[in-house]
Amino acid sequence: MNSSLEKIIRSYDPNAPLERSFTIPASWYTNEELYQVELRNVFARSWQFVCRVDQVARAGQYVTADIAGEPIVIVRGNDNVLRGFFNVCRHHAAAVMTETEGNAALLRCPYHGWTYSLAGELKGTPDFAGVCDFERSQNGLLPVRTAVWEQWVFVRTGEQGAANDSLKDFLGADLIAQIQPLQLESLHWFERRHYNFECNWKVFVDNYLDGGYHVPHLHKGLDSVLDYSNYKIENGEHFCLQWSPIVTDGAEPETGAVRQGKRALYYWLYPNFMINWYEGAMDTNLVIPRGVDKTEVIFDFYFADVSEPARERNLASIAVGQRIQDEDTEICKSVQRGLASRAYNAGRLSVRREAGEHLFHRTLATDLRS
Ligand code: FES
Ligand SMILES: [Fe+2]
Repeated sequence: MNSSLEKIIRSYDPNAPLERSFTIPASWYTNEELYQVELRNVFARSWQFVCRVDQVARAGQYVTADIAGEPIVIVRGNDNVLRGFFNVCRHHAAAVMTETEGNAALLRCPYHGWTYSLAGELKGTPDFAGVCDFERSQNGLLPVRTAVWEQWVFVRTGEQGAANDSLKDFLGADLIAQIQPLQLESLHWFERRHYNFECNWKVFVDNYLDGGYHVPHLHKGLDSVLDYSNYKIENGEHFCLQWSPIVTDGAEPETGAVRQGKRALYYWLYPNFMINWYEGAMDTNLVIPRGVDKTEVIFDFYFADVSEPARERNLASIAVGQRIQDEDTEICKSVQRGLASRAYNAGRLSVRREAGEHLFHRTLATDLRS
């Protein structure tokens, strides 16, 4: 690591308590080298959401993804085992599977037609007779560690042996125990939407983790159903739960119609996965860095009832979410611009509201220093 990058990383004090802490410095949101270190030290070393289990429920079903710059394919084998591989052909490195998802009997590389079984073994190598010291059995697709939690498939592309090595350890017993009683299996996937933000990925995460601080100012509709003064923030080891009672008195009609039940739960899993839960509805957010100042967020929407008669109501619920995203898009862009300004270096954190952001910044700093 070069000394200027090291200096930037050292300029944040992860040991300061919340009431004395600053945010991470502005350069962490704009520095290209630091961004590359994040891909290696944060994204490759954490368990990353890659797809839903229902997308790969049957033998031959596969999903491709880009995780921290690595092409990945997840595929269910004929033996019903779910496997993950680097989606990189062992011949000349082309992506073997090129669709985002589908069904295949064999994994066939489009470049020179090499084929791999659903278990990743190299099967067909056209016109390859006479090549010396070439072991077919040594040239299967390279596996990537893959594990399932609830209805989601996660992978870890980095080296084995880091702290919190298994998905279970990474999530922690506390988070697993909190999510389990929500019975997420009763919610069914309905739709996926992609949103693009002109900001560093951490601006989006910070915005999510501000303990509802921005809600009364930026999201009037959402604010009308949440109980701002009773908004709670609870930090776990690698996750933060923000939750609020839901109120019906004075609810703005569109939001009130689709945000019901006793409470809203907002779970963030370090570094980039969120689970937003309401009674009968849930959405997950996957925050994907697409460049130092570009971020894509994939929203998957789930509902208890995904039948045709419920369709309109589900779309109304998504529309409420869409409005909130649009409000956040502008503010994230504005923050990214401000972070690049000479006028700003770092800010302070609200003790009442911003403990989640503090956890995020401290955890990130620990990963970057390692
Ligand atoms: S790169 Fe895949 S067959 Fe040549
Ligand atoms: Fe927001």
